[in-house]
Amino acid sequence: MAQFLQVFSRSFSSSSSAMAQIKHVTVIGSGLMGSGIAQVAAATGHNVALVDQTDDILSKSMANMNKSLQRVAKKKFADDPKGGESFINEIISRIKTETDPTVPAANTDLVIEAIVENLDVKQKLFKSLDEAAPQHTIFASNTSSLPIGDIAASTKRLDRFGGLHYFNPVPMMKLVEVIRTPDTSDETFKSLVDFGKAMGKVTVECKDTPGFIVNRLLVPYMLEAVRLMERGDASPRDIDTAMKLGAGYPMGPFELADYVGLDTTKFIIDGWHEKFPENPLFQPSPLLNKLVSEGNLGMKTGKGFYSHKK
Ligand code: NAI
Repeated sequence: MAQFLQVFSRSFSSSSSAMAQIKHVTVIGSGLMGSGIAQVAAATGHNVALVDQTDDILSKSMANMNKSLQRVAKKKFADDPKGGESFINEIISRIKTETDPTVPAANTDLVIEAIVENLDVKQKLFKSLDEAAPQHTIFASNTSSLPIGDIAASTKRLDRFGGLHYFNPVPMMKLVEVIRTPDTSDETFKSLVDFGKAMGKVTVECKDTPGFIVNRLLVPYMLEAVRLMERGDASPRDIDTAMKLGAGYPMGPFELADYVGLDTTKFIIDGWHEKFPENPLFQPSPLLNKLVSEGNLGMKTGKGFYSHKK
């Protein structure tokens, strides 16, 4: 009997660890985040399918990845250009591109979604993937501001659904927040943490709460800085200097808002305000709304709180 239990527990644990090991990853959305996630997943030995709406978007994304890898290779293989070339080729060869997400989903261990931040679009995508993907496949969203549980509700695999929230730029930023909903199974959660670590990231765990850890603290902080300025208490330049030199932050709140994008910041705060109108930390800012309505979105448009024109 004891021997049976030993064999049983051994085979049970090996089957669960086999399930935990993620080799084939499908990344949907090849924009800023998706291309970074695909690049790092491939660089850490995973087979990656990268999906976007058109072949044109995908080739631009592959070209960007190539450039990013060239920068890495230049440093890593400074005296060995041939070695650098094969380093890049090996990583790129692990990434296949596709425009129909259901094709790679049929043979994948993990889907990471990094498409447009819109609940309906994300739900529609996951509903179709739920029908195409095998039983064991885990689904994860990289959403910054939508509840993972709301996205998962479009599927029948609530226990195999969680959040993997990466930071921009993904190849440089060490953190990934691993999000569990009340339905995420322990086994799924462990697989997601193991995957984050296998990508060379530091993982932190958080429940499915608005903004998870980093954005829940950062977004109200940026908005509070805007309110400080709106009241005329201090200038953006002085607030940024104060937070860099007084609090040791690498960027001030206005520099950070321009880097993140004022439209993205507004989108996040508006969504939270709609859901939690009484929370004073989630109040929209008239100045932020004005800048966004004028098309001043930060670094990407050359002007936000600061001018970024070269
Ligand atoms: P992006 O606009 O750079 O890329 C989105 C990509 O998804 C585009 O290439 C678009 O063509 C594609 N796409 C849209 N709908 C699609 C569909 N139905 N099927 C396949 N592809 C589709 O956006 P970004 O910045 O990469 O953000 C993606 C997600 O990551 C969002 O949910 C965002 O909240 C989240 N996120 C963004 C961060 C950032 O700093 N930009 C940080 C962490 C999370």
